[in-house]
Amino acid sequence: MTKPHILVVGGAGYIGSHMVLDLLRADYPVVTLDNLSRGHRSLTPGGEFVAGDMGNPADLESVFQQYPIKAVMHFAAHSQVGESVEQPLMYYRNNVANTVTLLEAMQQAGVHHFIFSSSAAVYGEPEKTPITEDHPCAPTNPYGTTKLTVEHMLQDVSQVTDLNYCSLR
Ligand SMILES: NC(=O)c1ccc[n+]([C@@H]2O[C@H](COP(=O)([O-])OP(=O)(O)OC[C@H]3O[C@@H](n4cnc5c(N)ncnc54)[C@H](O)[C@@H]3O)[C@@H](O)[C@H]2O)c1
Repeated sequence: MTKPHILVVGGAGYIGSHMVLDLLRADYPVVTLDNLSRGHRSLTPGGEFVAGDMGNPADLESVFQQYPIKAVMHFAAHSQVGESVEQPLMYYRNNVANTVTLLEAMQQAGVHHFIFSSSAAVYGEPEKTPITEDHPCAPTNPYGTTKLTVEHMLQDVSQVTDLNYCSLR
């Protein structure tokens, strides 16, 4: 049986490119969407590559029309704590607002499966280690807050739509 197409957003970055490699090794047809703002085209190990921005609805619509995507894995974010303190709006724009655009495009395209690359930064200063999944979340910088905000958004959206998601911390 043919495996479903997976869209890897941010697949030209550090973690996303390894995810693309794993998916290809497992015989999944993979499409990478990346704006190359922080990634490198040469890192993407194969599959289809689309140069585009997850904050641009037209780029997303075009990808969902062109390929029969069944699930989205989201690794596209700004992820430097210090930079997030200096430029919080840039972080809220890319990590939160652009994720809203991605989820809207998925809804329009009827794609219901979503894996979100969150971060252990959602926990803030740990009260105990090792940190368990039910540890309280109290991010201490805008980067962590943007990740937790998206987690809350996913929970809210999944209550009232067919969205099926998980967050990787
Ligand atoms: N690297 C880590 O140790 C680590 C730890 C925890 C969580 N994470 C999370 O994993 C994800 C990937 O991190 P990484 O280290 O691979 O970062 P990275 O910067 O190497 O990769 C991010 C990729 O996303 C792309 N991108 C960013 N904004 C985009 C947009 N608007 N449209 C399209 N592409 C866009 C960049 O060009 C880049 O290729 C992030 O969400 C990050 O928060 C990373």
